[in-house]
Amino acid sequence: MKELVVKLLKKALKEKRIKLKDEEIEKLLEVPPTADMGDYAFPCFFLAERLKEEPKQIALEIREKIGNAPTTDFEDIQTAGPYVNFFFNRKSLAKKLVWEVITKKKDFGRSKIGEKKKIVVEFSAPNIAKPFGIGHLRSTIIGNSIANICEFQGFKPIRLNYLGDWGAQFGRLLVGYKKFGDEKKLQKNPIKHLLEIYVKSNKKSFDKQSAEEFKKLEDGDKENVMLWRTFKEYSLEEFDKVYKELGIKFDKQLGESMYNKKMKEIIKELKEKKLLEKSEGAQIVNLKEHNLGACLIEKSDGATLYATRDLASAIDRHSKYNFEKMIYEVGQEQKLHFKQVFKVLELMGYKWAKNCIHVEHGHYLGKDGKKFSTRKGKSVFLKDILNETKSLAKKEIKKRLPKIKEKELEKRAHKIAIAAIFYGDLKNNRKNNIVFDIKKFVSFEGDTGPYIQYSYARASSIQRKAESSEKFKVNNLDPQEIELIRKLLQFPDVVSKAYNSLSPSIIANYTYKISKLFNEFYHACPVIGSESEMFRLALVEAFRQIIKNCAYLLGIELLEKM
Ligand code: ARG
Repeated sequence: MKELVVKLLKKALKEKRIKLKDEEIEKLLEVPPTADMGDYAFPCFFLAERLKEEPKQIALEIREKIGNAPTTDFEDIQTAGPYVNFFFNRKSLAKKLVWEVITKKKDFGRSKIGEKKKIVVEFSAPNIAKPFGIGHLRSTIIGNSIANICEFQGFKPIRLNYLGDWGAQFGRLLVGYKKFGDEKKLQKNPIKHLLEIYVKSNKKSFDKQSAEEFKKLEDGDKENVMLWRTFKEYSLEEFDKVYKELGIKFDKQLGESMYNKKMKEIIKELKEKKLLEKSEGAQIVNLKEHNLGACLIEKSDGATLYATRDLASAIDRHSKYNFEKMIYEVGQEQKLHFKQVFKVLELMGYKWAKNCIHVEHGHYLGKDGKKFSTRKGKSVFLKDILNETKSLAKKEIKKRLPKIKEKELEKRAHKIAIAAIFYGDLKNNRKNNIVFDIKKFVSFEGDTGPYIQYSYARASSIQRKAESSEKFKVNNLDPQEIELIRKLLQFPDVVSKAYNSLSPSIIANYTYKISKLFNEFYHACPVIGSESEMFRLALVEAFRQIIKNCAYLLGIELLEKM
């Protein structure tokens, strides 16, 4: 439908000697907040300078140049101040849109704009030998959604998990294991045991020893390398379980340790490019001039650092993938770190450094407003959160279906719990801190994941009760139908907006809006047995399809029955 508007505008603009490409016009088009301002609006401000005219005047002239548009497509085209507003013919809009959605199916809203160019999306990145905590959950949820959005825009996302499997903390763990480790305990409950050890050894008195053990590990000491490997294997097993449960997949999983071998090269390159400076025995890149302090490259004992590994990994990823963009979905507390890394890459002469983006997020907070990652001084485990959420979901399901079979209950509760948590996060602007309130997240009413699943299940149940057919005729439309159709029409624009600002919340909020409009339609307009049965069934199907596409982008699963 948008193409029709673009076509009219392109022609009118050409007559005013303004040549714009289809995509450019498409980008300029706005969706007015209410239906009485039209379905699309073309703002004329940007032409004022070029034409040396008032935007209002330009709008009038463009309107005049458009002339009589076909009434089968447009009910009206009016100007309102500096805007030209387009009103689609309701019936034709309804017919074309619903038809387009049900024929394009999962491709409705997809764009080819990405031209299959590669975008590296790094997300999750938990640290081994520690439980998968709530801290890495946000990155996992948001990063996964961003990768899906990139894919929908026609890019080829490379989903990367960059495990924290190297660094000074392993020195601590090694000291701890040698002092307090117990092989039996490690076998029985590895992550718990490693955490205990870490807590015990995370003391000032072990600082020196820890640094020595890490240095030994970096230098390839046999015993330390073997222990480290064991810790890593146990952790990977644990993480695999988590990702399976969350329904998250990666194209590649690698760790910081991989870049250990490349440290010498990086340091040599930095030296050759005259970027290294000595400071208190350590090697740094001085970024004072850029207001970014100092980027630590090598410690006085020769041990390398987080930033150095990030430099090596970025260079490696670029040579492997020749990416268009590289996204790091990491908490906002690492803002300075990424600014430093990107700046150093730029100073090293890598032009692609400007295509590296730190997509940051805020914290989860408890209801008390404090950081959620530790409750009562203990870290919160994802496993416990998932179990808690699932049992809440079970309660909700049982309220409605007291006789549901255990296996089915388990299956549904799992999908609902994941949707509750994912949506509870994604509906918020990622930069904000959010209150992690499972009870609220799991509610079947309000702006929640389960509400969205419920709306879909409701649409599916209508579908099951009727025989659908491909043919339909559009009669007079009720206001609730028109509102729903107008919103569904916006889906492709919503995805491109979400991509431009790398904000899954735009998709989440849209999903909620269409669900709400669908429920209003459902209450006001009978489907089966009504005069408009065939059209309304097709509209229900179009809604189901778009909500499926939204759910895919958010990384949540829907249920046919709930
Ligand atoms: N493992 C790190 C942490 O938990 C996050 C890694 C982020 N990615 C990166 N390329 N530095 O803090």
